[in-house]
Amino acid sequence: MKRNWELPSLNEAKLRSKSSVNTQQFILDPQLVGIGLHKKYMLHTFGCQANVRDSEVMAGILESLGFSMANSDEEADLILLNTCAIRENAENKVFGQVGNLKHLKQKNPDLIIGIAGCMAQEEVVINKILQSYHQVDLVFGTHNIHRLGDLVYKAMFAKEKTIEVYSKEGDIIENLPERRFGEHKAWVNIMYGCDKFCTYCIVPFTRGKERSRSLEDIIDEVNDLKSRGFKEVTLLGQNVNSYGKDIEIFEGFATLLKEVALTGIDRIRFTTSHPWDFTQAMVETIASYPNIMPYIHLPVQSGNNDILKIMGRRYTIAEYLDTVRRLKEAIPSLTFSTDIIVGFPNESDEQFEDTLNLYDLVQFDFAFTFIYSPRSGTPAAKFEDNISFDVKKKRLARLNEKVKHYALMHNQAMLGKEVEVLVDGPSKKDASVYSGYTPHQKLVNFKADNIKSGDIIKVRITDVKTWFLLGEQI
Ligand code: SAH
Ligand code: SF4
Ligand code: F3S
Repeated sequence: MKRNWELPSLNEAKLRSKSSVNTQQFILDPQLVGIGLHKKYMLHTFGCQANVRDSEVMAGILESLGFSMANSDEEADLILLNTCAIRENAENKVFGQVGNLKHLKQKNPDLIIGIAGCMAQEEVVINKILQSYHQVDLVFGTHNIHRLGDLVYKAMFAKEKTIEVYSKEGDIIENLPERRFGEHKAWVNIMYGCDKFCTYCIVPFTRGKERSRSLEDIIDEVNDLKSRGFKEVTLLGQNVNSYGKDIEIFEGFATLLKEVALTGIDRIRFTTSHPWDFTQAMVETIASYPNIMPYIHLPVQSGNNDILKIMGRRYTIAEYLDTVRRLKEAIPSLTFSTDIIVGFPNESDEQFEDTLNLYDLVQFDFAFTFIYSPRSGTPAAKFEDNISFDVKKKRLARLNEKVKHYALMHNQAMLGKEVEVLVDGPSKKDASVYSGYTPHQKLVNFKADNIKSGDIIKVRITDVKTWFLLGEQI
């Protein structure tokens, strides 16, 4: 059968040109308004904050077409899975969930099941869906989100699957509809894509090239959020340090951070910053504004220089430690978290020990730890690997013991301290217990009266656990 669509291509998606980025304004086709009336959508989001933010846009587009949010898959007319391709187990989770939806499709043939996000950018995934997952009606990629209205319309009336995945560097689309999932904490994209091409990573293939939104658009968004009562923004990019390089803003991220700080919004966070180009101007800016939170996620990936080199990370452990030192000198209370991959191809026991030693040196407050997962299309996927999965699992367990040890140690140091907490809301189990986060991004469960979510209040820490603190309102 002749296809009227093209398979995505990771090879094409890898290409980078010098041409400038096309910024467009989103326009809702008036003819599509109303196609979702009396219909409900369900959205499942996997992966990182970039996907969460994309889901907010998908929800916004669907609601402007007339759809309303469903409470369960059973009552939905449209189910979208916004997927993540970062590791094999992330993909397996999605395939598992698509499998579970088969019975709903059998009960209701009009149900539309769609796959979006990073997995949609991979040709192997689309081929698998075409072969084995007939219940899927719609597939669209990370560069096609603004086309959701047209695509849903097509899927509603098409006899075949609707597939639209652009494998390209990507544009910037402004003025997108949105439904924010949080009431006082918001994600703000400052840039899209990634040009770092760490050898293990699929993201530069699924998200296109690094492209920065204009400073004005970002500041307008933050001001708008602030005027709507939002207390915290997290600036999002795969490597926020690169902000502005493509649009020639000198010291782009430091400049942006300063401008965001000057909006006066209560709390500013950012993720992710790369250890490679963490400039002194960034360090000084973070130190200068009290509304930039004293917590940094700085993924190190490995404690061994040779592994870092073949990962394509562009820094040595000495340089990483120097960045940590520069930051601590400027902001003594700063806390750090990190990402670590164990079992990179041929990682030796000694190289793994270097990672444990680095952990002891930095004493991170927290770490996200992963077993290396080969991603088809990336350079590392072609590396020979003679380390067994069993060895990798044992290493991960040892590393996680360290993560736990230091998490508890840092939490113990908080006992008796007074902290400011941005209140997320009451606990589901006990309405007199609230939870929220400190400036250092520590979760606190605490007793309080007469407060509401979004308040910033003072809490005394009365007890500590490994992953959270307990306290009382002062
Ligand atoms: N842009 C961010 C990371 C995004 S991916 C950064 O560079 O810091 C989040 C984390 O997933 C990475 O930091 C890395 O630790 C992990 N990761 C990425 N690709 C992986 C792979 N193929 N196998 C295992 N972990 C991976
Ligand atoms: Fe992946 Fe590296 Fe880009 Fe992070 S910086 S998204 S790990 S390629
Ligand atoms: Fe996953 Fe894509 Fe984010 S691969 S981690 S959802 S950028």
